[in-house]
Amino acid sequence: MKDIFQKLLDEAKEARLKAYAPYSKFTVGSAVLTEDGTIFTGCNIENVSLGLSICAERVAIFKAVADGYKNIKAIAIIGDTEEPCSPCGACRQVMVEFSPNMDVIMSNLQNKIKIIKAIELLPDAFTGFNIN
Ligand code: THU
Repeated sequence: MKDIFQKLLDEAKEARLKAYAPYSKFTVGSAVLTEDGTIFTGCNIENVSLGLSICAERVAIFKAVADGYKNIKAIAIIGDTEEPCSPCGACRQVMVEFSPNMDVIMSNLQNKIKIIKAIELLPDAFTGFNIN
């Protein structure tokens, strides 16, 4: 695996420690790599009104976009799961919106890793509509 992907995983692991997940107790960390090498991290942030909770991946992506980066090369995700932590459908749609070609690096605490392109995680993604 590329050194930069390992670095992203390390950053995601660190970001996971900042997760606010008192309701599910399931903490997730994420890190996004932008075109110029800048890294943005995210963690899941829950709310007592449960539907307002947001995943680690979207926090990291939205931080990047808010700082002017829409071209995302890769995103790392880590959670305490049996298999490498796989992003939810909402996060997949957000990934495809900005960079369908980004590498999605999924991992767990045992360092079990799976890497796949965002578009492969959401085949036949909804990509737009016409208004007449
Ligand atoms: N969660 C993430 O942050 N990323 C994922 O890939 C899966 C789910 C969060 C959302 C919620 O705070 C908790 O994990 C349980 O679903």
